Parts: sequence; C-alpha cells; structure tokens
Amino acid sequence: MRFRFSHVSIVVPDIEAAARTLGEKYGLRVGERMLNAEQGVRLAYVDLGNAKIELMEPSRPDSPVAKFLERNPRGGIHHFSLSVESIEQSTQVLGGKDVRILGSGKAQYNVAGERIAFIHPADFLGALVELEEHPANEAMRSQ
Ligand code: CO
Repeated sequence: MRFRFSHVSIVVPDIEAAARTLGEKYGLRVGERMLNAEQGVRLAYVDLGNAKIELMEPSRPDSPVAKFLERNPRGGIHHFSLSVESIEQSTQVLGGKDVRILGSGKAQYNVAGERIAFIHPADFLGALVELEEHPANEAMRSQ
C-alpha cells in the first residue's frame, strides 16, 4: 500500500464567503462549486499544484457536515485525504489489521466519481482520514 497526500478538507459555513477570504487575503483561487448530493455537501477546491484544499458546505440540513458545523460554528478542519491505488485492496488490507472503515457496506464516491472510503478516527491517531482511489497509471498521467 502506498499513500500520497491529496487534500485537506475544511468545513465552512458559507463557501462564497470562504472563497472571498482566501482570494482577498491569500490570492488563492477557488475553483468551480460542485454538489455531491450523496455526501450532502457543496464543495470547491483550491489547487496548490502538489495538493489541494477542499472547502465543504452542507447542502442539506441532515448532512454529516451540518452536524460538524453545529459543534464548530465557525468551521474547521474536517479530514485529510490520502490517495491509494485501489480502495478495494487498501480497505481489505487495513481491515485485516483491525482498522475500521466507516460505512464500508456501501461504495462511496467523490464528486469526480472516484471511489473513496473513510478510516475511523480512532484508528488513525484521532484524525478522520479519507482514502481516494487514484489508479497508478492515472497518477502518472497527471504528473
Ligand atoms: Co475530501
């Protein structure tokens, strides 16, 4: 198993206000706003070249991200994401080491249609980690 850093994800109460702040204060450009209906988030990325910053805003009141905002009204870091070549293989290997995969019963996808999975925070030093599937040939093409 090989991990590469993909992105850090920040939950924000207002994605447009967040984009303005990042633009005005840091000169960062926030890309197009997208909807992941399944995950209940509106999101956008800042592409830093070697990694990304993901901004997420709840798209419906029962979104898991809405619950995060109840606990952290100003927003904050929600998870970070590591790329793996295969979600299937990684979750199988990790499962064999007693690492819990959240919602492993059902395949989950990000807004780009890539398979994702989340590791239980208790099994990664208290941090919520997203695994994102980037097959090796694809990763080489984007370099
Ligand atoms: Co993410």
